[in-house]
Amino acid sequence: MDKKQEFVDHIRNAYQPKGDFIHLGAAMLDGETFADAAVKIPLKTMNRHGLIAGATGTGKSKTLQILAENLSQKGVPVLLMDVKGDLSGIAKPSAGEEFLHERHQKIGFPFEASKSPVEFLTISEQDGVRLRATVSEFGPILLSRILDVTPTQEGILAIIFKYCDDHHLPLLDLKDLKKMLQYVTNEGRENIENEYGRISSASTGAILRKIVALEQQGAERFFGERSFNVTDLTRKDENGHGYVNIMRLTDIQDRPKLFSTFMLSLLAEIYTTFPEEGDSDKPKLVLFIDEAHLIFKEASGALLDQIESIVKLIRSKGVGLYFVTQNPTDVPSQVLGQLGLKIQHALRAFTAKDRKAIKLSAENYPISEYYDTKNQLTSLGIGEALVSALDEKGRPSALAATMLRAPMSRMDILTDTELEELIFQSKLRPKYNEEIDRESAYELLNKKIEEAEAKEAKEKAEAEALEREKASSKTSRKTSGKTQGAVIKVLTSATFIRGVMGVLNKLLK
Ligand SMILES: Nc1ncnc2c1ncn2[C@@H]1O[C@H](COP(=O)(O)OP(=O)(O)O)[C@@H](O)[C@H]1O
Ligand SMILES: [Mg+2]
Repeated sequence: MDKKQEFVDHIRNAYQPKGDFIHLGAAMLDGETFADAAVKIPLKTMNRHGLIAGATGTGKSKTLQILAENLSQKGVPVLLMDVKGDLSGIAKPSAGEEFLHERHQKIGFPFEASKSPVEFLTISEQDGVRLRATVSEFGPILLSRILDVTPTQEGILAIIFKYCDDHHLPLLDLKDLKKMLQYVTNEGRENIENEYGRISSASTGAILRKIVALEQQGAERFFGERSFNVTDLTRKDENGHGYVNIMRLTDIQDRPKLFSTFMLSLLAEIYTTFPEEGDSDKPKLVLFIDEAHLIFKEASGALLDQIESIVKLIRSKGVGLYFVTQNPTDVPSQVLGQLGLKIQHALRAFTAKDRKAIKLSAENYPISEYYDTKNQLTSLGIGEALVSALDEKGRPSALAATMLRAPMSRMDILTDTELEELIFQSKLRPKYNEEIDRESAYELLNKKIEEAEAKEAKEKAEAEALEREKASSKTSRKTSGKTQGAVIKVLTSATFIRGVMGVLNKLLK
């Protein structure tokens, strides 16, 4: 048998799933594309996470688009983190340019134009369905990870959450949390320390400063109500196609802390909300994180640990995570080790550092008798990639240099008018974009403090009145010393102030 036929058989053996799949393209060898060596990714392995890597302009975002639209067609909803704002085209069909047909001729199946149902989401000033979470939903543990606080400070946050829970003070936004931090160091201190233990003002001060730093990245737009129900991400349209939810994040690049806060809370929320999925024939939701290095950049050790464990756990909920980034080394090795599908586009070898990175990347791929991985990595063309996947049994399949199919939807972005139109049509937007400022910890505590201050003033006035009475009735005392003692005692008790006024008035008559 000749080498070519051997190669074709080798690929067909590795990429012929029994169940449903995504037809990604056709395998290549020595510059030739083999239409009869299809590279098909089993749908049931798509919750096993993945990586799309490669230098700028090599086709990463288009690969993301291809996976997303094909998943959508197979009824799998998708969430895209659109950091560069170049993924909106998925909402409109491709114009079907000639070069797309030519590409498909090589791959061995005809090009077809199509679009996906799209929902635009936002956590910033950009328009779209607003995604928000309340501080209480965040919980003290996650919040501590994000703020990167010390164990003592974490303890204080835990006390605050508990106190608010016990006293029905909703913690909705950062305003509430900041108010609580002030309250526990001032007016509420005695009260809380009696019940829950000591609280140092140095620690609350430190937490406050960290919250302010988070706010400076615009986090207050993300915290609050109405909080987003993550099951709204799993909607399908009338054709049974999964929605492609596009998270608009172009203005978030320079705010990595906000981005990782949002990502982590979203993953945690999905993890706690979605039921365990048994051995399913397709994922329930697939998330793509473009420019993924942003969530790992500036992430503390504790936060990285949290990300790692969520990545591991969320798989059992039928949720696949795909990281899209220039260099595989942008992703921490513990996360990298958990990825089932790797689509590696070309890497460029300009510097010694580049060459080192290429060597490292090459070592992470299965050995192939057909390819010199290191050379292959630098010689791949645009829209071509080295693919290593899992078969339906979860075993790594053969390495395949692949000529990728073209996106069925538009490769270019939507016009502003097209975008506005789609956002305007959204069914979710009215529900989530309504402004709600429910009475929460901030308002309730202000009320409480005001009441306490008023009470104090009243008490003072009454005590003075009593003093005057005492002085003027030295000779003709109408009240016994016993009663007076009782009056003073009641006077100092908080709740009976109005009743006391009545008693006092009677006594003084
Ligand atoms: N699968 C593909 N089919 C057809 N053209 C592609 C494909 N992948 C990439 N291209 C071409 O390459 C360009 C750059 O791709 P893109 O995905 O934006 O690169 P990256 O995200 O890696 O910077 C696209 O605008 C498109 O013209
Ligand atoms: Mg890109």
